[in-house]
Amino acid sequence: MSFQDKLEQYSKIVNERLNNHLMPGKHFGPPERLSDAMRHAVIGSGKRIRPFIIMESAKIFGVNPHRSADVASAVECLHSYSLVHDDLPAMDDDDMRRGKPSCHKAFDEATAILAGDALQSLAFEILARPGSDADPAIRSQLVLEMATAAGWAGMAGGQMMDIELTNHPKKIKLALIQRIHAMKTGAVLEFSAVAGPIIAKAAEDHIHRFREYGKLVGLAFQAADDLLDVTGDSEHLGKRTGKDEISGKPSIVARAGLEKTQKYVNDLEQAAIDLIVPYGTAADDLIEATRFICRREK
Ligand code: IPE
Ligand code: IPE
Ligand code: MG
Ligand code: MG
Ligand code: MG
Repeated sequence: MSFQDKLEQYSKIVNERLNNHLMPGKHFGPPERLSDAMRHAVIGSGKRIRPFIIMESAKIFGVNPHRSADVASAVECLHSYSLVHDDLPAMDDDDMRRGKPSCHKAFDEATAILAGDALQSLAFEILARPGSDADPAIRSQLVLEMATAAGWAGMAGGQMMDIELTNHPKKIKLALIQRIHAMKTGAVLEFSAVAGPIIAKAAEDHIHRFREYGKLVGLAFQAADDLLDVTGDSEHLGKRTGKDEISGKPSIVARAGLEKTQKYVNDLEQAAIDLIVPYGTAADDLIEATRFICRREK
């Protein structure tokens, strides 16, 4: 099966779970407008690359993808929340996301803020429920990992730095841009990479190796996103392009140029792949996913 077919297969499993977790009327109480906005943000055309990394890395350690699918759904809720808030007028002010009007455009700002809040809570709710894993020790480890990835020293912290350094008058050092990327994007990819071995109760050295892999993939992911903002096609990407420069974003392309950024992504790709090559043919699809992340056009 090709990587694209497998990505589709895993996305189908995750989409079914997400549909189930976000089923209208599943819980008595949530206002329909809020659940509609949450569904708008999550259900649909995301690449589902973080869920893929979780399910595939768990599979390397013998875990059936159906067993890791709830953890994978949780990360997609967290990621979708981050996109809803990232698009708000107070942040990147983007009107299009995943080929549709962004959440605050389809609804309104207050609803989008609340939908993001509730999606983040739902991510933790899914992780903490016994359905995500039978072992409470694994569930609490995953909750701790996700909280660390999402919070002040992770994604939220990175988004704060991104905002603070937008339209910055001085040239930003490459190391600082890397730090922002590691926090705003890398932390959740790192979570996605360690979740598999954690679910599988793999030994600490495996978790460490996957953490290092996740860090490299995270840096590559945001650098590729910055490249696509310059070279990509808005319709194909489902979001507006060419905006980082206009908005004065601390993009790595603005700092290093297209050619150097491309080389940086290539080097990260190779370094990340080198870390998982020792798992042999079991790692083939994760290697393909790594290549996809670094070379994608979407
Ligand atoms: C976009 O993430 C935001 C970044 C962290 C760069 P993705 O490129 O994974 O977006 P979707 O989920 O496919 O829409
Ligand atoms: C987003 O980075 C990172 C997070 C959502 C945490 P960007 O602002 O570059 O993502 P896009 O380009 O809007 O998808
Ligand atoms: Mg942003
Ligand atoms: Mg943005
Ligand atoms: Mg971007």
